[in-house]
Parts: sequence; C-alpha cells; structure tokens
Amino acid sequence: MAIALISTNRNFLELQEQIQGLDPNIQVDIWPRIKAKEAVRMGVCWNIPEHALSPYPNLQLIQSYGAGVAELLEDTSIPAHIPIARMSLESLATDMLAYIEWALMDIRHHGLFYRANQSAATWAPKDTLRHQDLSIGVMGLGNIGSYVSQSLAAQGYRVLGWSRSKKELPLVHCFEQQELHNFAEQCNVLVSLLPNTDETQGLLDLELFKSMLKPSFIINAGRGTQLVDEDLIYALDTQHIQGAYLDVFMKEPLAQNHHFWNRKEVMITPHIAAKTRVADAAALIVENYSRISSGMPAQFLVDRRKGY
Ligand code: GLV
Repeated sequence: MAIALISTNRNFLELQEQIQGLDPNIQVDIWPRIKAKEAVRMGVCWNIPEHALSPYPNLQLIQSYGAGVAELLEDTSIPAHIPIARMSLESLATDMLAYIEWALMDIRHHGLFYRANQSAATWAPKDTLRHQDLSIGVMGLGNIGSYVSQSLAAQGYRVLGWSRSKKELPLVHCFEQQELHNFAEQCNVLVSLLPNTDETQGLLDLELFKSMLKPSFIINAGRGTQLVDEDLIYALDTQHIQGAYLDVFMKEPLAQNHHFWNRKEVMITPHIAAKTRVADAAALIVENYSRISSGMPAQFLVDRRKGY
C-alpha cells in the first residue's frame, strides 16, 4: 500500500518527510518516480497533468492538496467512481481570515491611495474609516467563509453572507443564491471565497459592482474565474469601484502584460491568501489514508454534482 504525491508545481519532498515522520510504515513516492504503481491506494494531487492518475489500477482516493478541486473534477481521465477529498484545515480558515483582515485594514487606511500618492510625493490626508463605516459581504459560506464572516462580525463589522443554499450563522445576515443583488446592494466590500464551479463563473461583473454601496471594494480570494477582468477595469475607470485586492486570477501566474499590474487601485498578491501548510496537510493525509486502509470513508469528500 502506498501514497503517490503528484504535482507539476509543488515540491513535495517536505510533505513526504512529514508523512513518513507521522507513520514510517507508509510508502510515499513522489511523481514521476512512483515505484510500484499497483501498490498506490491514494494520490495526493495539486496541478497534475492530464492522465497522471491513469497508471494506478488500485487507486481508492484522490486527495486534493488544496481546498479547490475544480481541476480534478474537470479531468475526464479520472474515473467517476474514485472519491475525491478536499483539503480542509483549520489553518486554511485562520490564514484566510488574516488575509481578509489585512485587506480590510488597508481599505480603512486608504492604503491604495497613499501608496499611489507616495510615488508622486503627494500629501493628501483622508479620514480613516472605522469598522462601522463598512458593510462586508462574504460570498461563499463553506468552512472558510463561515469562519471568516463570523470572526469579522465578532470584530464589530456589519457582515452579510451569500451562498448557494441559505445558511444560518450567528451575527451574519445570510442570503441565498437568487438574492445576489439584494445582498450586494447592502455591501461596501464584496469578499469572494467561492469555489470555481459553473455557477460561480463571472459573478463579479459590472452589474454587481454598480449595485454596491459606496465606497465599493472587491477582495477576490476565491478563484479568478469569478471575476470579469474587463468589468473591473471599467468599474475602476468609472469610479463604480474604488479598489480591488486580488489573490487569484483567470490564468496564473498573471501575465506580465495584464492591465491589472499597472492599476494603482489594484493590489495583487500571488495566490497566497491561504496556502496549505505542510505539517497540517500531512496529518490530514495520514488520517485519510488510515481511514481508507481500514475500509472507512475518507473525510471531506467532494460532492461531484455540486462541484465542491
Ligand atoms: C488554494 O487556493 C486552495 O485551493 O487551497
């Protein structure tokens, strides 16, 4: 019985060490050097090439190394009967909260404006915004979104939440799928923490931006497919949106000639808002591996029909 660690852009050496540190009896190989293909029961995957999972006849579980699973679901070479588990870690939620708090603090202190002014040696003070000056709308209320929205509400922000099916969360005013505009109309800041599914593509568009309260800001730490890039540029030009904090992009790395790089109202971070931490991932992988070894279902299984 073995685990195969497969990624085209993550170095999994430390992960291999950590898994073996937790259980030295588990055989862990790193793609493309997988010793006994028939022995592989679990594939840990992040940015895998197509057909990368075809050579393992006894595969029982595909474990995503991240919270997002859209690429695995789109890979038609993966047989539908093999379960897929997502990475669900407390540290993903606490790291995401820290990222959103940082962006909100920057918004409140006019960070985009002052950084632009500094490069032009311009002295132009503005009133700092307080918690109560901003209504925050969190889109996506899974583990991470529920944690983030409730934590922000506990800090004194007015927080609204929007999700596919209506949730009940203490301190958060929750809206369901068809209430998107009614929700956005009451928000100064839209925070997307949504997964990439057919239904979430292109949700952050001009129509939505126009419906928001002023000043209006976007924080996208969900997936780049949710944002219509040209609509954001237009909304910045026409002052419908005052600023955007973007961690995810349609194509990553963001192309060097993309318009976003030159916009003073856009803060770009390179998909770092909530990165899987190796030690936490190793513990979850070992737990899921021991579950499938004893015939139990893995934790955090993906519902293929919902897409997350
Ligand atoms: C990161 O974006 C993840 O999906 O974990």
